[in-house]
Amino acid sequence: MLSFDHDSLHAGVVDPEMGSMRVLSETALRFPDSLSFSSGAPYDGNHDLADLSRHVERYIEHLRAKGLPEERVTRLLFQYGPVNGLIRDEVALMLKQDEDIDVPPEAVMITHGFQEAALVALRGLITSADDVLLSVSPAYVGIRGAARMLDVPVHGILEGPDGLDPEAVAEAARRVRSEGRRAVALYLVPDFSNPSGTVVPLAARRRLLEVAAEEDLVILEDNPYGLFAAEGAALPTLKSLDTDRRVVYLGSFAKSTFPGARLGYLVADQEVIDSEGSTRTLAESLSPAKAMFTVGSSTLSQAVVGGILVENGYDLRSATRELAAIYQERLRAALDALSEHFPDGGDHGVTWNTPSGGFFLVLKVPFVADLAAMERSARDHGVSWAPMSMFHLDDDGGRREIRIGFSNLAPDAIREGIARLAGFIEKTPHDTPEERS
Ligand SMILES: Cc1ncc(COP(=O)(O)O)c(C=O)c1O
Repeated sequence: MLSFDHDSLHAGVVDPEMGSMRVLSETALRFPDSLSFSSGAPYDGNHDLADLSRHVERYIEHLRAKGLPEERVTRLLFQYGPVNGLIRDEVALMLKQDEDIDVPPEAVMITHGFQEAALVALRGLITSADDVLLSVSPAYVGIRGAARMLDVPVHGILEGPDGLDPEAVAEAARRVRSEGRRAVALYLVPDFSNPSGTVVPLAARRRLLEVAAEEDLVILEDNPYGLFAAEGAALPTLKSLDTDRRVVYLGSFAKSTFPGARLGYLVADQEVIDSEGSTRTLAESLSPAKAMFTVGSSTLSQAVVGGILVENGYDLRSATRELAAIYQERLRAALDALSEHFPDGGDHGVTWNTPSGGFFLVLKVPFVADLAAMERSARDHGVSWAPMSMFHLDDDGGRREIRIGFSNLAPDAIREGIARLAGFIEKTPHDTPEERS
């Protein structure tokens, strides 16, 4: 009988880091009475099954109103569709409306979530073993995993309280070059990063674009949380400031509509010139990668999301105001509960950042907060969370830090969860100052 040595399989499936998110959700499942701060799942209190068919119907009507004959509409929904997607026009309208990103539909590729957009972008841009992806560290597991699956080396750049420092990016690009390798692209989440909740300030966004031009980098901008800023506080995306077409924008509908749709988009308006001198957009040129990863995105999912876009006049920012208020309330509940349990001047040794939006915040604690500690917390204190070390790209980062994901718990549950967490922290022996240094 054919059998395999586990370690003989590709590093992408063998590496325990790639399974760490699964370990987190399994721990949460093993302790069903525990409250979970470990996921970034969106609020799901407003879903209604009847909406699914209504949205599909809305999209079908939209196609008919465009003058498409019935036979064509039927074929679009049932057949293999265009590889780069059915709803590119609608997404281009949404990008203009929501983000002031002005691109033609040909610059948009509809993808199987952010995840496929990242895989497609990396597959197209990284062409040799000496090519390197620069990435903010700590980073979303999805980008690290996508790079691992494609054997793309990643060089982490430690972020500060204001996210990535552009000068650190320039220095990293030069360091990679001095090693005889090529820094090709830079990945970051400028708005309410996962896992840290940081926001890159406007001046640093402008400087990042300059650095990208100076160091010849493509910026991969991932922006699933930008809609969830406090009222009036949203900053322009890098892509909307990008006059030099340095940015490939990786979007997701997971948080702005619903994650089960598994829909996202890649925006790449760069010109690609072939040997005959004809030009296409980068999004069109990357099409073979999408064709070979997923053939095309589900027409049904596209019809649902297309219907949502049409119904809301391509304005998801307005359509998600209530949702944004729910996340803001949850963020405040978490911050207030932390202040109550860990008052200023106490000897608890706990500090945290205060993001202005998004789904996550980070707590510094006076002991090593690894998966074993998380399991003790879930088992003995009924609260789970994510060790920040899971997201750091170097071996040592985030060892005494906890990611709190507050998006999927009601304010009362957040207050109860923070109270339980305070109990766990109080019962856990603190490291000595020497151990911490
Ligand atoms: C930073 C970041 N990017 C993208 C996504 C969404 O990815 P997808 O569209 O593949 O669900 C998430 C969701 O957790 C995220 O945190």
